[in-house]
This record gives sequence, structure tokens and C-alpha cells, in this order.
Amino acid sequence: MLSTDQMNAIKQSAPLLKAEGTKLVTVFYQNMIRQHPELLNQFNKTNLMNGSQPEALAATLYQAALHIDRLEELLPAVKQIAHKHVSVMVKKEQYPIVGYHLIEAMKEVFGLTEEDDTLLAWKAAYDIIANIFISIEAEMMDENIKQKGGWADVKPFIIKKKIQESPSLISFYLVPEDESELPMYEAGQYITVQADMPGEAYVCSRQYSISDQYHPSYYRITVKRDGHVSTFLHDEMEEGDVLHVSMPQGMFCLQEDTKEPVYLISAGSGVTPMIGLVKTASHNNQPFTMIHADRLEDVTAFEKEFESVLASSSHGRIILCNEQFEMSGKGELVEKAASRIDRPFLQSMIGEGKGQFYLCGSPAFTQEMIRILKEMGIPEQNIHFETFGGQSMKEIEVV
Ligand SMILES: Cc1cc2nc3c(=O)[nH]c(=O)nc-3n(C[C@H](O)[C@H](O)[C@H](O)COP(=O)(O)OP(=O)(O)OC[C@H]3O[C@@H](n4cnc5c(N)ncnc54)[C@H](O)[C@@H]3O)c2cc1C
Ligand code: HEM
Repeated sequence: MLSTDQMNAIKQSAPLLKAEGTKLVTVFYQNMIRQHPELLNQFNKTNLMNGSQPEALAATLYQAALHIDRLEELLPAVKQIAHKHVSVMVKKEQYPIVGYHLIEAMKEVFGLTEEDDTLLAWKAAYDIIANIFISIEAEMMDENIKQKGGWADVKPFIIKKKIQESPSLISFYLVPEDESELPMYEAGQYITVQADMPGEAYVCSRQYSISDQYHPSYYRITVKRDGHVSTFLHDEMEEGDVLHVSMPQGMFCLQEDTKEPVYLISAGSGVTPMIGLVKTASHNNQPFTMIHADRLEDVTAFEKEFESVLASSSHGRIILCNEQFEMSGKGELVEKAASRIDRPFLQSMIGEGKGQFYLCGSPAFTQEMIRILKEMGIPEQNIHFETFGGQSMKEIEVV
């Protein structure tokens, strides 16, 4: 337990963390990866290089400093990070490595000495925070292994089917090599896929949402051609090839036990978790409105699948948006809107806005949607989101 003096020292360091946190964690990651390059098996190099991972950690440390006397308030955010940690196979033995390099970076960037009270307080606080993560993650890993057909770390899957959904979207149907039945997972969860790419010293890990409801024999993921790994999957991975994947993780799932209306709002590859979510809402008889925007050539990729969701549901709408549609209107069942997803459009779709909102897309898209929904008076606790890029407590205003 931290003493009152230690808590005060940490709270007093919050403004410094806010101002210099990104510099601190950038130095931290550079030194840690230099000494432990094997961590590149787990970290997404792009997120490290473009700063989104350092920013996510800096924001978490800042929030930890502010909440050091009431860390339980951070539990929902901690659980979300823990899902990601389990998915990328973070081990409890790795926490001292992170702790050591974080404290060393504090010395270097903040000019703290070994005997400094603030540094000693952060050393003690890091151990407490690390132990919270370690125990939550141990529980999650335990639950994974205990499930029938569950596994630890990664397991080999064969690409059974590869389907071009649109010019830039390809779906992969992944079947366990041992043909075992897949443990239950929730619509909206993601898996980590390890790509063993030629010329790379380490495997490249990326997360992909499962783009369907639970199916006992396969995971379907849908990958948008974007950069390094997605291009490799599109161009080099064929039916019959093997990919190593983690068990599904993530909290971007429909709230249980509610018949409240559900609003699903996505852009680009953010459509992927929405497919399982819209099917679940329909199956649960929850009123739903799904709004999805993408480039003209990609936006109708799942139109047929959406038509069949609507065909078996009397209380749902699915609207595909692209400014280049010649006109707004209704096809068989799916609606098309010649519009961006902006505030006037959302206002016309949402009305009073009673219900739960689920957002998915790039960090810029989710941030913009959160801003608009808050302006429209939607309570923060009714807004849920997943971003396909670095995600952090920066976007979750917990103070
Ligand atoms: C929970 C979760 C679920 C996800 N689900 C899906 C999904 O269902 N489908 C999906 O397609 N994706 C999904 N993603 C995103 C996915 O994990 C990858 O991030 C995505 O496929 C891009 O990886 P990549 O290796 O192809 O691109 P990267 O090489 O990592 O590049 C990513 C982007 O950064 C740009 N970039 C890279 N380097 C530079 C540079 N030096 N300068 C400027 N720009 C640069 C690239 O052009 C590209 O646009 C998900 C992410 C998360 C966190
Ligand atoms: C108390 C210590 C730690 C904190 C506060 C922390 C915080 C975070 C945060 C905020 C994220 C982003 C989560 C998201 O994208 O949703 C993250 C992701 C991650 N963390 Fe940690 N972490 C800690 C310890 C560790 C340890 C010990 C490891 C082991 C090497 C680790 C490895 C990773 C990896 C690989 C990712 C995914 C990054 C990516 O590829 O995008 N973390 N962590």
C-alpha cells in the first residue's frame, strides 16, 4: 500500500506527466525495444513508430497519477487494456522489464535521481498497478484455457476460404488445424493474427475483429488492404495456408439483458465487428439502426448479408452512406444515403437518441462521432467504441 506522502508525490507529478508523458514513453519504448527486441513479436511496430502506442501508455500513466488514491475507478479501462494484453500474450514475467525501463526513462526525462521521493513513489505505484493487471490477466487466461477447446497463446488455423468482398476487403475463413470445436465468443470480439513474413526477424502481430456471429467451426475475419501485414495477407496468404491466432478477446460487445435500441455506426473496415453485432441485435429482438460509410467501391461489400438480416427482422434499419451515391433511397431492404455521417445526418437518423451507441473505425472517425453524439446530449456511458489504431484512455474521459 502507498503512504499518503507517496500518493501526494504521484499526484504532484500528474501535470509533468501530462506535459512530458509522450516524451517519457517514447524514450521508454526506444530503450526497452533496443534491449529486448524480441518484444517486437508482440508490439505492432507501426503503432510504436506513429506514436499511438506511446500516447496510449502516456495517457494511462497520467490517469493512474490522477486516480492513484482511487484506482478502482480505472477498472473498466484496465480491463480493456488487459483484453489487449491477453490477446498479444503479455506474460507476468514481462512486467518487471516494463517497470525497469519506465523508471529509467523517468530518471532520464524528468531528471529524477535514485533517492528522489517521486521516483520511489512511482516504483511502489508501478508494482501495485502491475499487480492489478497481472491478476486480471491471469484470470482471463485461466478462463480461456478452461473453456472446452480453449488454448493459451496462439494456435494454428488453416485458411479454409478466401473471399474477395470488394476491391479492398478480403474475408478469410480460419478453421483450427486440429478441427476442434471453437469455444464460445461474443460478436464484436477480435483475434490477434501472427504473420510470419519473409525478411522479418519477428512475427508481425495484428488484431482483426471477427466479422460474424459465433460459428463453432471457423472465425471469419475481413481484412482491408492498408499496409504491411494486410497487404501480405491479401497477396501472399492463400487457401490451405496456416496462420497462428489467439483466442478472441475484447469488450466491444452488446450490453447484456437489455432490449434498448442499438445504434451501430462505422466507417471503412470498422464495419467488421458490426456484422456480428447487428445479427446479434436482430436475434435478440432489439431495435437496431446500423449506419455504415465507406468508399463507393467498398460500401456495399456486405449488402446481401445485411438484406438477409433485415429480411428476418421487423425492427431494424441498415443505412449505407457514400456522398457519391446518385441519390438516397431504399433497395430491397437496405437503405442508401448520399451523405457523410455528420451531425445533421445523425440527428435525422437518431431522433431522441435513446439507446446504446456503438462506434467503430479509425481513431479520427470514432473521436469525431463521440464529439457529435456528446453534443447531441447522448450520455457518455451509452457510447461504446473500438478504434482500429492506437486506443487509449485519452479518448475515454475518466476524470
Ligand atoms: C481491436 C482491433 C480490431 C481490428 N479489426 C480489423 C478488421 O476487422 N479489419 C481490418 O482490416 N483491420 C482491423 N484492425 C486493424 C489491423 O489490426 C491493422 O492495424 C491493419 O490491418 C493495418 O495493418 P498493416 O500491417 O496492414 O498496416 P501498417 O503497415 O501497420 O500501417 C497502418 C497504416 O499506417 C500507414 N503507415 C505505415 N507506416 C507509415 C509511415 N511510415 N508513414 C505514414 N504512414 C504509414 C499505412 O499506410 C497504413 O495506412 C483492427 C485493429 C484493432 C486494434
Ligand atoms: C502497468 C503496466 C502497463 C500498462 C499501464 C500498459 C498499458 C497499455 C495500453 C494503454 C495499451 C493500449 C491498449 C489498447 O490499444 O487498447 C497497451 C497495449 C499493449 N501492451 Fe501494455 N501496458 C503495461 C504493461 C505491458 C507489459 C508488461 C507488456 C509486455 C511486453 C505490454 C505489452 C503491450 C502490447 C504488446 C500492447 C499492444 C500494442 C499494439 O500492438 O498496439 N504492456 N498497454
